[in-house]
Amino acid sequence: MEATATFIAARMRASAPDRPFTLALSGGSTPAMLYRLLGTAAYDDLPWDRVHLFWGDERYVPPTDEASNTRLVHATLLDARPLPNAQVHPIPTGHGDPTQDAAQYEATLRTFFSDEGPTFDLALQGLGSDGHTASLFPDDHALCELERWALPIDAPAYMDPRLRITLTFPLLNRSRATLVLVAGASKRDILHTLLYGTAEERAPYPAAHLQAHDGVHWFADHEAHPPAHPTRT
Ligand code: 6PG
Repeated sequence: MEATATFIAARMRASAPDRPFTLALSGGSTPAMLYRLLGTAAYDDLPWDRVHLFWGDERYVPPTDEASNTRLVHATLLDARPLPNAQVHPIPTGHGDPTQDAAQYEATLRTFFSDEGPTFDLALQGLGSDGHTASLFPDDHALCELERWALPIDAPAYMDPRLRITLTFPLLNRSRATLVLVAGASKRDILHTLLYGTAEERAPYPAAHLQAHDGVHWFADHEAHPPAHPTRT
């Protein structure tokens, strides 16, 4: 996890000092240790006064709910490293209507990013064992979205909670850099396919379609890291 934090710190330090550093955060359980690390004194010297936090997706629950990605970031990062509210941009889930909340978040995003040029300085993404990233799931209509930057999602039945809001590829794939953080043996097979599979083998998985100007960088723990790739005969 230290390597991941070091990578993020290097991106922050290398960014232009006269503009915000925009960081899109992933949810789930994997990044909790990373966020705790970024909240420690070892990272006090980063330019937090110009860091703006966004979320790549959110479960459609109150921000105090155990399942909330907003709650996750507050509990693991912001409680230790408070940032002004003006620098923290959670996905709203308070209207009781995910379509309306997704539209509101898109309006927020459009105050930061234009239709051209780079978006996030760094997009931190997770990976599901089904190959989803953010809340972009296999075979979902959201994968084909070309215009909107945030959409309501009814996740597959095996996910809980199912109702979510996710950023889409038209926004995510204009990031300057993307970091995919993967942990646990349950991700080994999908990670192996994504890193070493053929284009045809990778195609069904949303995470395979992540792009970024300076590249998509994969960070995995020893459980998830695939065995040495057999040389092709
Ligand atoms: C979410 C995430 C999602 C997550 C993966 C992996 O809201 O659930 O954004 O994309 O990164 O599902 O989740 P774990 O880290 O819990 O395995």
